[in-house]
Amino acid sequence: MILNKINPTETEIWEKLSTHYKETKDAHLRDLFSSDVKRAQKFTIQWNDFLFDYSKNRISSETMKLLLQLAEEVNLKSAIKEYYAGGIINETEGRAVLHTALRGKKTDKVLVDGVNVMPEIYEVKQHIKEFTNSVINGDLKGYTGKAFTDVVNIGIGGSDLGPAMVTEALKFYKNQLSIHFVSNVDGDHVHEVLKTLNPETTLFVVVSKTFTTQETLSNATTIKKWFLKHATQKDIAKHFAAVSTNSEKIAEFGIDVANVFPMWDWVGGRFSLWSAVGLTIALAVGFENFDALLQGANEADIHFKDADFSENIPVIMALISVWYNNFYGAETEAIIPYAQYLSRFSAYLQQGIMESNGKSVDRAGKTVGYETGTIIWGEPGTNSQHAFFQLIHQGTKLIPTDFIGFKHSLHGDKDHHNKLMANYFAQTEALMNGKTKAEVVKELESKNVSKEEVKQLAPFKVFTGNKPTNTILIDKLTPKSLGSLIAIYEHKIFVQGVIWNIFSYDQWGVELGKQLAGTILKDIENAKISNHDSSTLRLLQYFKK
Ligand code: F6P
Repeated sequence: MILNKINPTETEIWEKLSTHYKETKDAHLRDLFSSDVKRAQKFTIQWNDFLFDYSKNRISSETMKLLLQLAEEVNLKSAIKEYYAGGIINETEGRAVLHTALRGKKTDKVLVDGVNVMPEIYEVKQHIKEFTNSVINGDLKGYTGKAFTDVVNIGIGGSDLGPAMVTEALKFYKNQLSIHFVSNVDGDHVHEVLKTLNPETTLFVVVSKTFTTQETLSNATTIKKWFLKHATQKDIAKHFAAVSTNSEKIAEFGIDVANVFPMWDWVGGRFSLWSAVGLTIALAVGFENFDALLQGANEADIHFKDADFSENIPVIMALISVWYNNFYGAETEAIIPYAQYLSRFSAYLQQGIMESNGKSVDRAGKTVGYETGTIIWGEPGTNSQHAFFQLIHQGTKLIPTDFIGFKHSLHGDKDHHNKLMANYFAQTEALMNGKTKAEVVKELESKNVSKEEVKQLAPFKVFTGNKPTNTILIDKLTPKSLGSLIAIYEHKIFVQGVIWNIFSYDQWGVELGKQLAGTILKDIENAKISNHDSSTLRLLQYFKK
């Protein structure tokens, strides 16, 4: 089955939302809070070790009622059913979208073309377990009989960002192996990594769903050449592993079948860290932690599938985001984790969210007449406070922001953690309240600033406030809670794609870039340059001179 093709702006509820927006857009959060003592309680969801407070958003109970009706009108419930059951919801590629199955229980039954995929998933998981255990405990050895000390993940996009983000996020749980990532086709990247490595003790994991990606194959080939300067062809079997759907290409590259981890075309690259693409994660933190990550995601899957929409974190996150994107005209969303371990989290979600919902053609093949995917950006707090928060506070743009924090730090330094979290709470409060002119004047006067100066300075010190934020407060950063957090954002993507009537699981825009680069590479390598516009032509001529 495929998803319906409802234009959201043609639904009855969209009209109502537009009217509601016009009537309420100027309401200030400060007033909404002072007129309702139960506001925080009303707009908070507690689930597992997550507290999701969305009360600091420019919404009322009426807004949420209408947004929830929008979810009903676009048949979100049946879309979720299709998503989990292996329906061909990636219609343009004729594929199911089943990252949820990757973290499903062994006893689950998920059919693709009439075949239950769970036994195969668990077979690969068992292989990951045995392989990672033997690398970590030193049973598996390199060509000179030494245990592995370093692992290099060679991949790009989803074959890099997920493993890189999670490996960094779970650094606290890491074992002795040093993990490196090579992604960019920029040779300086691979050579910089290679210069630190000993071929005798390094394991290379080539990760590519298609095994045709230029960056990954170039890097893998360069690494193979470097390796063969020290070892022989037969040693490749000991030092290279591969994760891919393309067994033919892996064999051509010369990787031993024992070190091949299959994946499936129903796993999208940007949702693939739960598959064998997460091999590097399992190597870095051990299989048990990798499995706990999957379990956390599975719990979020169950929450998304079963919780009433009014109590459903991904659904509420998605609806609020639609509210700002389509009615307030907000173009971007910031994601700010107050955890240095999550320093790659926003970069990871940039691919997940923007590659999925950066579409302008609807499911019926027509150009949309409304906004779709938001621009995602962010860096950890408190660093970001000293970088771009000025614009969020006092700039002209409305930037809905997610604040992600943890009740407990991992190293248990209370002094630091209290300071970190004081900033986390203070920022959302300040963004919401702002600072009125009267407050600014009072503050300046209390510092004995002259009347003249108060008048001059006051306009610059006023903060309008009314800046929306979500607060996601989690007990502790563990493999399990991280798994849940990632899955929550994955489901938010899904909900938004359903509402916007777009296909979230293809990425034709990226494919175009791949083709174009191929043509220009020939122009660079060959004597003759093919036909281009005058700018590209002159640039190529200048580059080749
Ligand atoms: O960037 C486009 C893309 O297709 C991503 O979706 C994917 O994660 C990445 O390229 C890498 O692809 P592959 O795993 O096939 O090398």
